[in-house]
Amino acid sequence: MIIDYIRNFCIIAHIDHGKSTLADRLLELTKTVSEYGNKDQLLDDMDLERERGITIKSHAVQMEYRYKNQVYILNLIDTPGHVDFSNEVSRSIAACEGALLVVDCTKSVQAQTISNLYLALKKNLVIIPILNKIDLPHSRSECVEEIIELVKCKSKDIISVSAKNGLGIKEVLDQIVKRIPPPKGDPNAPLQAMIFDSLYNPFTGVLAYFRVKNGYIQKGQKLRFMSTGKIYCAYEIGTLKLKRISKDRIETGDVGYVVSGIKNTYEVKVGDTITDAKYPASKAISRFEEVKPMVFSSVYPINSDKYEELRSSMEKLQLNDAALTFSPESSPALGFGFHCGFLGLLHMEIVIARLKREYGISVIITIPNVSYRIFMKKKMIIVNHPSNFPEVEKIQRVEEPYVLVSILTKENFIGSIISLCIGKRGKIIGNQDYLPSGRIKVTFEMPLSEIIFDFYDKLKTISRGYASFDYTFLDYRISDLKKITVLINHQKVESLSLLVHKNEAFFMAKKICQELSVLIPKHQFSIPIQVSISGKIIARETIKALRKNVTDKCYGGDVSRKRKLLEKQKKGKKKMRKIGKVEIPSSAFMTFLKVKNL
Ligand code: GTP
Repeated sequence: MIIDYIRNFCIIAHIDHGKSTLADRLLELTKTVSEYGNKDQLLDDMDLERERGITIKSHAVQMEYRYKNQVYILNLIDTPGHVDFSNEVSRSIAACEGALLVVDCTKSVQAQTISNLYLALKKNLVIIPILNKIDLPHSRSECVEEIIELVKCKSKDIISVSAKNGLGIKEVLDQIVKRIPPPKGDPNAPLQAMIFDSLYNPFTGVLAYFRVKNGYIQKGQKLRFMSTGKIYCAYEIGTLKLKRISKDRIETGDVGYVVSGIKNTYEVKVGDTITDAKYPASKAISRFEEVKPMVFSSVYPINSDKYEELRSSMEKLQLNDAALTFSPESSPALGFGFHCGFLGLLHMEIVIARLKREYGISVIITIPNVSYRIFMKKKMIIVNHPSNFPEVEKIQRVEEPYVLVSILTKENFIGSIISLCIGKRGKIIGNQDYLPSGRIKVTFEMPLSEIIFDFYDKLKTISRGYASFDYTFLDYRISDLKKITVLINHQKVESLSLLVHKNEAFFMAKKICQELSVLIPKHQFSIPIQVSISGKIIARETIKALRKNVTDKCYGGDVSRKRKLLEKQKKGKKKMRKIGKVEIPSSAFMTFLKVKNL
């Protein structure tokens, strides 16, 4: 295929604005999949693809489209679409020359519309704005104005579509050909291909998706992955339609996949450059940066017998998700589990949901932590677990990660949103941007630790759902951090430790004592619940003693009823965790530790 007839593009949108539905219609109109009227067949095909480990919606797919008697190759490169993966999003975007910016006409521009658009503009992509869901009656008239202002385009540049019923889809395809430029590249230069995504397939191992910038890739060629220096053989190369279409050669500017017997996705890094092992390119397409987990949490099976099952499920998940990290840990309160690292909150939610859906394992997930930089006299350590926090005397300074948060909301909620963010150590940045619809965009610099717990829930409540937010990592800044230690009956419970900012320490200490004193059942002796900071007790509650005899209510000498009750009590004890002499139901720990908004 001549490079002039190739178009590489992605679809960017805020969640639920219709990205996948639009992709479906494009695939149908180009006959890459069957007509959407014939849903069974489409779904069957997709299930088959899923079994083989390829889901066309979330990766690259190639379509052919005839425009003015010329067949064009349209490569739709799907992006992960969320800031947790923004590093990867910007790489997928870098593999394209154009982007379809989809906006739901009933919701208008939202926070992720803006952040994804900026990522695309940074890479100089041609933007085709698309107003979706025009079949719905509650279309917002100011939506067009907002798009014009955001994209700096004219109203005639916006294509109105209904991805649901197929209206306007042909126009989208025509405009992709007309407005998005063909890729540039030198077919005679040494091979440089950028990996923009990868997928684990149980039959073939890892499939790496790439876009050829210069040169070409041939079947059987020895390839060098530039960030690791490792050499692999291209056993199979090809393009992705509904199925993998094996080819002998992928040309400059085109998009394809390579199978080279790699068994772990972490060997294939998004953003890495592939070159020829014998005649390598002198440099990579762009500087390679490793994505690092930002949010850490412990994951324990609800049923402690499922620990081994959880381990093997996590190992399988990791094959598919190179950004997930985990290491074993144990806690007297929760048993055996794993300390995991995630790219962000959404990534964490996805992993937990996949553990449940794909492997049938329900887990407790503890309050997330961010990773702190602790500077001591001679070294700096990274701490993402309260139990690794060094003694205060050894610490010179602590730094915590900050993020840039943008919030889009209605004018009447702005006051309470600003108070919420300031209460969470946020600092307002720049001016408030007024959108034509009367909505406002505000930007804050905030510690990441402040948004990973209940921020989103609070934002939704105070804005009655009329606020969307997005964040990107900024830098590390000095912080006055305290480690809160919980003592139950004078015994430290490390799994309940927390790292909090100095301003919150006292409030948190009181709250923890109060919550635990309600959750832990009374015993035959009184139980002090204490919270300490640097060895000093700053809060305390006492659970009063109670003598409980479960057979009290049995009258006469009903032995069998007595035995039944004692048996029941014994069974209940199995579900208890012991902290010294204190027996605590696992459910109490779960209620206390679990992330409330998952
Ligand atoms: P994420 O993958 O979650 O980011 O969502 P998305 O942007 O891919 O949106 P998706 O295509 O899943 O659509 C979200 C919802 O909007 C679905 O219920 C679709 O059926 C619906 N939808 C999409 N396009 C249209 C449209 O043109 N009209 C109407 N009425 N509904 C639509």
